[in-house]
Amino acid sequence: STPYDVRDAEVIVVGSGLAGMTAALRLAPRPVTLITKTAGLAGGSSLHAQGGIAAAVGPGDRPEDHAADTIAAGAGLVDAAMASLLTRDGAALVSRLLADGLPFDRGPDGAPLLGREAAHGAARIVHAGGDATGRTLVTALAERLCATPSVRVEAGAFAVDLAMRNGRVCGLLACHPEGWVLHRTPRVILATGGIGAAYARTTNPAEATGDGLAIAARAGARLADLEFVQFHPTALAVDADPVPLLTEALRGAGAVLLDGGGRRFMAGEHPLAELAPRDVVARAIGRRVAAGEPVFLDLRPALAAKPGGFPTVLALCVEHGLDPFAAPMPVAPAAHYHMGGVATDADGRTSLEGLWACGEVACTGVHGANRLASNSLLEALVFGARVARDVADRPLPPLPPFALPRPPAVAADVGGPLFDAVGTEARAALYGGAGLVRDGFGLRAARRKLDRLAAALDMLRGEGECGAGAPAPPSAVRRWGEARNRLLVGRLVVHAALAREESRGAHCRSDHPLPAPASAHGRAGPDPTGHDP
Ligand code: SIN
Repeated sequence: STPYDVRDAEVIVVGSGLAGMTAALRLAPRPVTLITKTAGLAGGSSLHAQGGIAAAVGPGDRPEDHAADTIAAGAGLVDAAMASLLTRDGAALVSRLLADGLPFDRGPDGAPLLGREAAHGAARIVHAGGDATGRTLVTALAERLCATPSVRVEAGAFAVDLAMRNGRVCGLLACHPEGWVLHRTPRVILATGGIGAAYARTTNPAEATGDGLAIAARAGARLADLEFVQFHPTALAVDADPVPLLTEALRGAGAVLLDGGGRRFMAGEHPLAELAPRDVVARAIGRRVAAGEPVFLDLRPALAAKPGGFPTVLALCVEHGLDPFAAPMPVAPAAHYHMGGVATDADGRTSLEGLWACGEVACTGVHGANRLASNSLLEALVFGARVARDVADRPLPPLPPFALPRPPAVAADVGGPLFDAVGTEARAALYGGAGLVRDGFGLRAARRKLDRLAAALDMLRGEGECGAGAPAPPSAVRRWGEARNRLLVGRLVVHAALAREESRGAHCRSDHPLPAPASAHGRAGPDPTGHDP
């Protein structure tokens, strides 16, 4: 007998951010099981997105101009065909959401109010609730999802590994609140978001532990561009986890960066000053902060220009005892977005039959080495929809017989706190060694540390196998699984960052400060470290 339930599903979607919800909704009326590790339905980084969705829907703006800005920000590595698809499909989808009456901020004539953000040549950021775009959008889609009978939502379920046969997906093993479940299915869509919470200082919610990337890596999927991790320039410099984001839309509305002496400095760094590409602004701030100089964002010009436009930011500042009307806010960069991920084509297909990926977990090539602001929600919408269409259109032969996987034994008695401790050390190692600026020495030190932690985690888990045999509660499985995933994605990022001996976009190596003459995508196999933690 198997130590778990076996359930059959046509399609499994993993993740309940914008990409996963879009894919599930678009597949209706085909039956879909959406599993998410969050307790309620809506989850992921999408909920926390402040700025908005970039789309060429304003008068005189064109998708090709948006594509050109996307390509310029990506430092030579953007796939131009993908950028064109993102911006063209994106403008059409956002127009449709506007026509459908989604609660975007609008002027008296009903036209969307368009914000400006860094490295965009036009005001093209559609937003909702001022700076609560992600929350407004995800909440609206969650309501639609709840009213869609073809979607079965399984909340609090932690996806652990794919079941594979000859390079083909046959199922997904997950730990549900009621115990282990093998979802026998020919189609899995990963929409699990990014890896920010594998870093010590991040704007991402705690659940962004790179689960989908790790699952795909362990199954042997092709991965790409893992070294490109974007740091958001202006996270509030407070002791919090995650660190509160001060949206780029503030700079778009006139907020200015000040050094420790109260002087503006961005004009000396880039002709676009505060609206320079995100990697440039992040490094200009990071350099000062690393030298012990505080950096501030003066929000007051933006708050005056857009009264009522930034309720989320104001609430976050107040929560930390700060008054942005009274003084500039201290800021520092924080890990924010992963340009790399599971390599996919334009329809979100991965290198494994039956596995699709969309949203931040995927690497379509659309962001290159540095994502343009507010292209992430757009990517989730566009590729969530494209994946759904491809999954619906693609007949797959019946599942072959496959060996049922054994759920990993996880120590019930060792339990969560020790797993969490390993995860915390891993986050610090990655932040220290593969942060905003890296070098070979720091990357190799991070690699050694992460290798040691992987071995330690294995030992801790192993104690469960020799122990009394009581199954670990789902909460301990999740804490072990998240630590294991943080370690794997951390080691993959370090490996890729060591291999790229140049500086490009978000990947800045102080020991290789210039871009190499020829740019190429970083390609990685399943686990170049050769060790599955
Ligand atoms: C922001 O509002 O600054 C973040 C949005 C994004 O990452 O594109």
